Amino acid sequence: MSEDLHEVVLPADASGAVDRVVAEFIRRGHALHESGMYDKAIEEFELALALDGDNREAMLGQNRAIRRHVPRWHWEMLHDRERADLYDRAISQVVRPDRRVLDIGTGTGLLSMMAARAGAREVTACEGQPAVAAVAKQIIRAAGHEQVITVVSKRSTAMRVPADMPARADILITETIDCALLGEGILGTIAHAREHLLTDDALILPSAGRVFAQLVESDTLFQKNHVGKLYGFDLSEFNSLASLEYFDSRLRNHQWRPLSEPMEIFAFDFYKDGPDERRAEFVVSPTAEGRAHAIVFWFELDLVPGIGLTNSPSNPQSHWKQAVQCLPDPLQVRPAEPLLLDARHDGISIHFTAVSMGETTP
Ligand SMILES: C[S@@+](CC[C@H](N)C(=O)[O-])C[C@H]1O[C@@H](n2cnc3c(N)ncnc32)[C@H](O)[C@@H]1O
Repeated sequence: MSEDLHEVVLPADASGAVDRVVAEFIRRGHALHESGMYDKAIEEFELALALDGDNREAMLGQNRAIRRHVPRWHWEMLHDRERADLYDRAISQVVRPDRRVLDIGTGTGLLSMMAARAGAREVTACEGQPAVAAVAKQIIRAAGHEQVITVVSKRSTAMRVPADMPARADILITETIDCALLGEGILGTIAHAREHLLTDDALILPSAGRVFAQLVESDTLFQKNHVGKLYGFDLSEFNSLASLEYFDSRLRNHQWRPLSEPMEIFAFDFYKDGPDERRAEFVVSPTAEGRAHAIVFWFELDLVPGIGLTNSPSNPQSHWKQAVQCLPDPLQVRPAEPLLLDARHDGISIHFTAVSMGETTP
């Protein structure tokens, strides 16, 4: 139960009254959920469960509200052995007993526990989702690392030294990365940490990242964001609700053909870069004739020198899959007709526009 909720104590013979109170907590939980107030809904369901621990409706209601904050990808990510092994190797290379470690976005506490296992004596594990932070505390306690790891249940950008951490950390570990590298806000998170939470010479893991993009032909990828005439009806108006930005998809699950070489679009130095908008333009020479449906992009991440991670199409096991931005309409491309590819990011999301530059004289 949340610490700020009062325990409800009722006389033992008041079972009818208890049932009514439980039903009222559940009713309020559902109403709050429908209004999008998931944290408040969780509190109501917790109150119901405090009175009737086996109440299935309250359990499902609480779980439904928690799921709004805890995406399903957590499980797939945790089973990505390559990700875990590479972070583990990188962490054990840099952690020393005299180093103070900050793990931003600890999730289950995994990377903090790796740091503790590597010999760290002080780790601050911060997690912005309270339900996740509460579970991380339990996992860390059960693993016997609670003397070393302190869980802070707030977003790192709300943390300050010494209120949330006794002193600035000299190692930052973070895996706050989505399929397109920036989508979990890593640039702003690390920039804030450099300013408020880290020593001037702190080691930052990951140290750098790069985003690559490639033009592809793939009807089935395009169909993930586009509909036309089907079953005798014109459904194309539904495309006004289609995604203008990227979504994740596994390229190897589609029939696809490359129409350009992969291009490096953005490079980030996590020791220096912040979330300021950036824009880059590229002249792309198509490598084949075809219909360009989408721009597929991915990252390469440097953890420490010699240890890196990628979700490129050549690494089909990666739980991150690839980032896909479908073009509004397929674009006919030919090797003799270069395209202008405009790439922008706003610190969180990368977005492309592609325009044909017409035929060039050989
Ligand atoms: C991709 S998961 C990684 C979890 C864990 N580090 C691991 O490697 O298994 C990222 C986690 O970071 C949390 N998060 C993202 N940005 C954060 C921030 N700035 N402060 C605190 N938590 C953050 C999310 O809620 C999520 O639980």
